[in-house]
Parts: sequence; structure tokens; C-alpha cells
Amino acid sequence: MINTVGVIGLGTMGAGIVEVFAKAGLSVIAVDGSAELAERGKGFLEKSLGRAVSKGKLDEAARDEIVGRVSFGDDLAAMKDADLVIEAVPERLEIKESIFTTLDGIVREDCVLATNTSSLSITEIARATKVPSRVIGMHFFNPAPVQPLVEVIRSVMSDETLVEQVRELAERLGKKPVVVGDRAGFVANALLVSYLARSIRAYESGLASRSDIDAAMAAGVGLPMGPLTLCDLVGLDVIHEVCGVLYNATGDPSVASPSILRQLVTAGRLGRKSGHGFYTYDGVGSGTVVDDAATTAPAKPLEGKVGLVGEGDLVDALGSELSDAGVEVVRVVSADDAASVKDVAVTLAVDAVELDGDCCGGGCCGGDDASHGDVESGLEIGAKPVLRAVRDAIGDAGVIAALGEGSVETASTGDPTIDATVVPVVLHEKQRAGQVLEIGRSVAISDEAVETVRSLAVAAGWTPVVGKDRAGLVVDALLYPHLNDAAKMLDSGYATVEDIETAMKAGCGYPQGLFELLDEAGPDDVHGVLSEMHFETGEQHLVPSPLLTEHILADRTFRG
Ligand code: 3HC
Repeated sequence: MINTVGVIGLGTMGAGIVEVFAKAGLSVIAVDGSAELAERGKGFLEKSLGRAVSKGKLDEAARDEIVGRVSFGDDLAAMKDADLVIEAVPERLEIKESIFTTLDGIVREDCVLATNTSSLSITEIARATKVPSRVIGMHFFNPAPVQPLVEVIRSVMSDETLVEQVRELAERLGKKPVVVGDRAGFVANALLVSYLARSIRAYESGLASRSDIDAAMAAGVGLPMGPLTLCDLVGLDVIHEVCGVLYNATGDPSVASPSILRQLVTAGRLGRKSGHGFYTYDGVGSGTVVDDAATTAPAKPLEGKVGLVGEGDLVDALGSELSDAGVEVVRVVSADDAASVKDVAVTLAVDAVELDGDCCGGGCCGGDDASHGDVESGLEIGAKPVLRAVRDAIGDAGVIAALGEGSVETASTGDPTIDATVVPVVLHEKQRAGQVLEIGRSVAISDEAVETVRSLAVAAGWTPVVGKDRAGLVVDALLYPHLNDAAKMLDSGYATVEDIETAMKAGCGYPQGLFELLDEAGPDDVHGVLSEMHFETGEQHLVPSPLLTEHILADRTFRG
């Protein structure tokens, strides 16, 4: 039975792990490299418990009892009484190896040696010890007191009874253990950090602004925080190190540490812990963002009415939503009443193909129903008469937001005079953090038109996300490769659907697992967007997993 644990390294993760053990009633020997670092670790624990006391979630006596279970110091010799020692020192193999070699001469023979490594090889760390069978990965997630996941990682040398003992210990701590083998990044970081690296690269390439990338994933998908905010929480140095490990293991350039990340780490801008990362904070260790040069100016208030083109349930619902938000709406259902939008600030055109009663207004097929199936939807042909009538009414500078699939191609009328102010938009489902209206930006569209649509979004109560007009815009362009990675991991036999769902939900606070999101989006839609993205960029990691194809052909979801 494990009752006394040692924790080595009292930074963000180490201090959080100390809190988890002490709260669960275990005695903790907490050690860092100097008396000052040990004192700092004690400060982290007291601050975290103090927050709980001030929220009324813990009384002062309980707090004192928890702190009383921990002894802080700077001497590894204190680990002689531990049943399990876990290290949470920086992600450098040589540091971890040296600590474990030293521990070999200190701890009891039956003591379990655990590492909280984010991604380094448990097998390599184990090899540096006298008894490799007692070395096991025990990977907590940030903030350790909050995230339920613990990845228990076995090497090929691990003693299975100890693996089981550590799994049981994680359960005693109130955590959700997932037992996995020793692969770079294990389950959660292999998936999460690949997605974070791609998000950083998307920011670096100007796909969207910093806050729009974050809003896309928080308000667009429902993740607890956007990827750049999350990088700042975890620590850019940690993300950089994990990227290095993933790249070395896979050779996949999409997981290599992005240039901007390397620059920020070199500059000492490590995220919240240094007060500056992708964002600027109001102090070291704070999560409160302050404005800086990269802060996007808020959208200007919308001045004027909104035209709403289209008919059907969706259009009615949008009309009500806009009216409820205090926006004055002018409805247009056919070319005949287009003149009524003459003075509006912006016109929202919905599914305009139906306005003419067929795909093309009779123009492309002479009304031959049999060929209508070739025209999927959107504004390509059928909308032309309506859009032209709307354009005639509003003038060349009038802005049309075309709600559809979200690319200039699908929103294109084929008429450049109309296209210059037709802005493709996609309205996503409402999430806890808001509802995203994605706005496609391209060389064909003026900045003023984009700004007007941002104003429309804010007036309607939506969160505007402006992205370069590329396959998947921002939300799907970040989400779908993440889902593809999960399918590839499943296909590789490393983890089950359940392991992957648990890892992302319990480790990273995802409200839905990746396969749940994949099934919801539909494997065929995910496959289609990935294929388009691959076509646009040639990037190998975007090739859809064969398992996606299999599920499409068999018409099967991933979660049964
Ligand atoms: N330490 C302790 N507790 C904390 C905390 C911290 N740093 N930050 C937040 N909390 C607690 C709060 O006190 C609050 O507790 P309560 O419900 O008892 O009052 C609870 O967490 C929720 O916090 P907030 O209400 O302030 O904020 P949110 O609801 O936005 O939650 C969050 C904050 C838990 C951080 C949430 O945004 C989240 O889950 N984000 C994703 C984090 C994530 O992905 N972590 C994994 C990173 S990868 C990793 O760690 C692996 C490593 O190897 C790289």
C-alpha cells in the first residue's frame, strides 16, 4: 500500500501533484533543488489552498491539515521513507536520468519510481536505474488538482503488479487512470500538442488573429480554452519540448516546434508563468490578459438595418434572433422585393439557391429536375438573380454576408462585381462560450466589407472569427486534423476509442471526446475537408486516415 510519496520538482505541475496527494490523505515529502525553490513550492500549495478557502470550498482547519501532511526540503535523502517517488522536473532526459540514478542509492528496494514526463521515453528513463522494472510513468495534467486524467505508462520492462498498484493509487486520488504503452506523447499529449503546434503555425501564417484562433476553438467547438491560451497555461517551454520529442519520434514536420514558439521560448516568454507568452498578462503567474500590440480592435457598432435574404425555418430563426438582439431586419424572399434592402448596413443571404425555386433559375438546365442534383447548394448559380437584384438595390459598396459552406468558391456568384462584397460566412452551433460566425477573408473582398460583417456578428450576439478563405476556414481547419489524428492513433492500435475519449475529456477538459465530435461532424464531411486541405497545401499529415474511409464506406460511426 502506498502511503508516503515523494515529489521532486515543485514547479506548476509538481506543486499541483503535491496538493493532489496531500488532499487524498497521503504523507508527502516535497523536494526541490534549493531551499528557495522548496519555499516557492510551498507558496504555490498555500496559494492554491487559499483560493479554495476563500471560495468556501475548504475550511481553514482542513487547509492546515493538508499543508501539515507535506514536508518541504531540498535534500533527496529525505526520499528514503517513500513508497513511491514521482519526479516533475524539467523535460530533459539527462536531468531525469541523473535524479533516478541518485534515487537508486537512497530509496527502499520496493519503492516505485514514477515520472511525470510529458513525453519522454519511460523505457530510456528506466534504463538509467538499477531496477528498471519499478519505473513507471504517472502523467498528470495541468492544473493537476483539477484535471482528472492520470496516464499510467508502462515500459516493456515494467513490473505489471506495480502498474496495477499505480493505477489503483490514481483511483484513490479520485483520478481517472488510463494505462498505456510507452510512445512519444502517450495518448493525450500526442494528440493535444500536435493540435497546439498546428494552431500556433496557423497563427504564425496569418490564418487568423490570436484571439480569433482561440475563439474558434472555445466558442466554435466548445473546448474549455483556445489553443494559444492553453499554450500559455501549460508553459511554452513545455510545449516546445514536447514538440521536439514528437518530431524526433515521428519525423512529421507538422509537429515540429513552430518558429514563433522557439522565438518566444528563447526570449523567456514562457506564458503565464513569466507574465508573457502569446498573450501579455498583468503579472507573473496571472491568467488575466492585458492589451498589447497584437490585441485586435473591437468591432465597430453596427449602424443601420440588416437585410435578410431567404426563406424557411433557418431564415425565420435568424430573423427572430436578430430582432431579439435589437437589430432591425428587412426580409427579402425574391428578386422582386430586393429593393427593400436599399438602405441596409449589410445583407445576410441564406441558402439563396432555393429562392428561385430551382438550382439555377432555369438558366443552366432549363429547369430539368434530373440535373439539379449536380448543384449541391449555396449561391453558385441560383442566387445570381436575387443577389444581382440585391446588389442593384444596395449599390456596389453594399455588403452581402453569404451564409453557406464557408468558402469564396461556394459563395461565388461567378460575377466579380458582385463577389467583391460577398463575404462567405458560417454560423456554428451555440456553445457554452458563445456562438461563432466565421467570416472568410480573401483578396477578392475589401477589409471594410469584412469589418461590416464583424459588426453584424457582434450586433447579433455572435462571436466573429475572421479567417483566410481556405478549406475549413479556421474552426474545421484546426478541428478536423485533430480528429484525423485520433482516427490514426486508433488505427495504429495504440489506444482504444474509450482511452482516447477519456484522455481528452479528463485530461484537457474537452466536453466531448474526439470521436464524439467526429461522429457528430460526420466522417464524410471530415474526410472531404481534410482532402481539400491536403489538396491546397500538400501537407502529408492532412491525408485522411484510411479508417475514416472505412467508416464512410461501411456507413458506420466510431462510437457505434
Ligand atoms: N490550480 C488549481 N485549481 C485551479 C487552477 C489552478 N491553476 N485553475 C483553475 N482552478 C480551479 C478553480 O479554482 C475552479 O475550482 P472550483 O470549481 O472548485 O471553484 C475550477 O478549477 C474551474 O476554474 P475557473 O472557474 O477559474 O475557470 P474555468 O472553468 O475556465 O476552468 C480550467 C479553468 C480548469 C483550466 C479549464 O479552462 C480547462 O480545463 N482548461 C483546459 C486545460 C488543459 O487542457 N489542461 C491540460 C494541458 S496538457 C498537460 O497538462 C500535459 C502536460 O504534460 C503538457
